[in-house]
Amino acid sequence: MTVILLRLFIYLELDVEAISMSFNPKHILGIESLTAEEINFILDTAQSFKEINTRQIKKVPTLRGKTIINLFYEASTRTRTSFEIAGKRLSADTVNISASGSSVAKGETLEDTAKNIQAMHPDIIVMRHNASGSCQYLADRLDCSVINAGDGMHEHPSQALLDALTIREHKGSIAGLTVAIVGDITHSRVVRSNIYCLNKLGARVRLAGPGTMLPPGIEKMGCEVFNNLEDAIRNADVVMMLRIQRERQGAPLIPSVREYARFFGLNGNKMELAKKDAIVMHPGPINRGVELGTAIADGSQNVILDQVENGVAVRMALLYLVSGGEKLKGE
Ligand code: CP
Repeated sequence: MTVILLRLFIYLELDVEAISMSFNPKHILGIESLTAEEINFILDTAQSFKEINTRQIKKVPTLRGKTIINLFYEASTRTRTSFEIAGKRLSADTVNISASGSSVAKGETLEDTAKNIQAMHPDIIVMRHNASGSCQYLADRLDCSVINAGDGMHEHPSQALLDALTIREHKGSIAGLTVAIVGDITHSRVVRSNIYCLNKLGARVRLAGPGTMLPPGIEKMGCEVFNNLEDAIRNADVVMMLRIQRERQGAPLIPSVREYARFFGLNGNKMELAKKDAIVMHPGPINRGVELGTAIADGSQNVILDQVENGVAVRMALLYLVSGGEKLKGE
């Protein structure tokens, strides 16, 4: 693998870095099963791909002849677009399927849809689905690679990886940092993937949210839990804000959005409690005036668009790694 990755770097005219391990998973279903070394390897690979996105001709032949299907059962702007761009920049053929425009709307099951898609011989299916565990379910039944683009309240691994890349770029390294994550913790797949990722990379994770949005026992994942935003963000290096996931809630979990914004929304005054050089992150979509005040949403500490930019590079790295570098083997 080392030789293959070195050849990739030469082939793409990228900086050749020290590469000391191999990692070619068949699937990327979550962060829980990855080691710190594997996460760092993905981040290093993404860092190298990043440069392609600023070239005048943003296309390399790495995945020429591969077919990638983006199968999205839930709405998405950032994840779906960046997986599509990532595939296209690596010269793969990419096809987008959304539940509303497919036969899912006519009652077809996930397994039947997937088997029909498999009959067309894709190499990778990137799936977002509202059911936790659905990506594992697919991976257990299909021959092609599966990448989890967010499954219910379980995991969103590519989001945690792009978050880690963004933190690493702004802070130099992740070990020893204090990262506060605030919002609807119960319904967030982003928070679960981030807890796994940040803990493995040596950060301290704090969580805060209304009691109704903090699942009992979450501290067992390796984080400190606060019931107010101020204590969670005090002296933090990174403040990650989450939106309220109304689509996953049954009965309302808060008396009013206005009250939520008052206690759990981030504004300039509250941000002064964090370290002076702290960064503000959000996986998007943001709700201005709810979890982020305008001064923060448009402020200089906010690195949200850096997260979006890094999303393309991280997804290029994931598509490349699950493809096993086969194109290069044949060179
Ligand atoms: N962060 C994220 O998953 O955004 P989308 O829902 O727009 O993909």
